[in-house]
Amino acid sequence: MAAISFNVSLIGGKVPDHNRTGGGNRLNTATTEQESVLTPEILDYIGKWKDKPGNLIMVLHRVQEHFGYIPRSAAFEVADRLSVPVAKIYGVITFYHFFRMKKPGRHRIQVCMGTACYLKGAEALIDEIEALLGTGLNSTTPDNEFSIEAVRCVGCCGLAPVMMVDGKVYGNLLPDQLAEILAKHKGD
Ligand code: FES
Repeated sequence: MAAISFNVSLIGGKVPDHNRTGGGNRLNTATTEQESVLTPEILDYIGKWKDKPGNLIMVLHRVQEHFGYIPRSAAFEVADRLSVPVAKIYGVITFYHFFRMKKPGRHRIQVCMGTACYLKGAEALIDEIEALLGTGLNSTTPDNEFSIEAVRCVGCCGLAPVMMVDGKVYGNLLPDQLAEILAKHKGD
């Protein structure tokens, strides 16, 4: 298999100008498949989607499915393999709220801030979660147990206000129920 033009050692750092070609982010340093941060499955997926329209979003979904977020190193490698500028990758990641740039905690808390939930007290839920965990929205606790996000309507407005932990839905929530729920998930 031919070597690809990608250098992991440059990930996370500034890419020297002499390693850039054609205005994109392609790197000229030869490397091997073993140095890829992407799994063989993801590489295979990229191979299948490389020339298809909409491939960037499909590939980023696949990367996030594997890592739980889009690591910087993976973003650089996807850019290189799809021959698109890194700026375009980050443009997509920041435009679609689905994509995450930070590694989530072991347990993912999502509080719905859609209209129905907002009107029924979602903000108070977030305040209480922040107080209980000692960390803010869109962040992860120092022990990496929980990450907290506000999300758009999750589709069960009749249960507002709604929170999900690792995909499990809790509805008609009151702030004083949260400590018990979080303790239960922490023990999982
Ligand atoms: S607004 Fe929260 S579930 Fe719809």
